[in-house]
Amino acid sequence: MAAADIAVRATGLDKTYGEGETEVHALRDVTFEIPRGEFVVLQGASGSGKTTLLNQIGALEPPTAGDVEANGFSLNGLDDDGRTEYRLKSVGFIFQFYNLVPSLTAYENVALIAELTGGDVEARSEEALASVGLAERTHHFPGQLSGGEQQRVSIARGMVKNPPLMLCDEPTGALDTETGVKVLSLLRDITDTGDRTIVVVTHNSQISQIANRVIELRDGQIIGTHLNESPKKPEEVNW
Ligand SMILES: Nc1ncnc2c1ncn2[C@@H]1O[C@H](COP(=O)(O)OP(=O)(O)OP(=O)(O)O)[C@@H](O)[C@H]1O
Ligand SMILES: [Mg+2]
Repeated sequence: MAAADIAVRATGLDKTYGEGETEVHALRDVTFEIPRGEFVVLQGASGSGKTTLLNQIGALEPPTAGDVEANGFSLNGLDDDGRTEYRLKSVGFIFQFYNLVPSLTAYENVALIAELTGGDVEARSEEALASVGLAERTHHFPGQLSGGEQQRVSIARGMVKNPPLMLCDEPTGALDTETGVKVLSLLRDITDTGDRTIVVVTHNSQISQIANRVIELRDGQIIGTHLNESPKKPEEVNW
């Protein structure tokens, strides 16, 4: 596949934490390609290396060996400033517990990130919040929003940068089924309308039904990749 059609390519990726008796080999020789525009699920038991791998794709930590190429960058070849710029411009992060700033309103949480990337901050922030159905909640603080609404603010915050890649770690882990389905529909729409690529880490094996590609990890290694010819819509899955 031509390089331009690949969103993420990992080659011989190794990650070891600690040393001596406390050494943990979290990723072992991980190699894969993710074509642009796919909704990818990263699956595996607790401790299998899912978050470690997501952090590698997001350039949050340096690898011990190997490399990730994403959005035209070889991440291992970037210095600290390069990694910061890559995270800022190329990646939207969504976490299980939203990671919103509690003392800032929904609007301010999104605007904070919009300011880093420039343009018309107010218009872009309002547009991002409207796109996740929160136009009426822009002046609420996180503590005044439901879990699903807080996660939608965090999706708006990720989207306001218009990044080619979204990385989501257990985005529905703290939500009830019905709210989780709404959040997944939103994430699925993001890939369906454009060539944005999304990688979702999850324990929930049902989510694999809505993915184009499922990568399965065990003990830091990829043990299988499954392709879905016709992924279901989140509303069609029997949760
Ligand atoms: N900062 C760290 N320092 C030391 N060990 C770590 C660190 N982060 C992760 N590990 C270890 O690396 C392994 C993989 O952890 P990781 O967080 O990637 O698992 P996971 O698949 O995301 O699990 P979970 O589903 O529970 O979130 C685990 O054995 C974990 O204890
Ligand atoms: Mg994890």
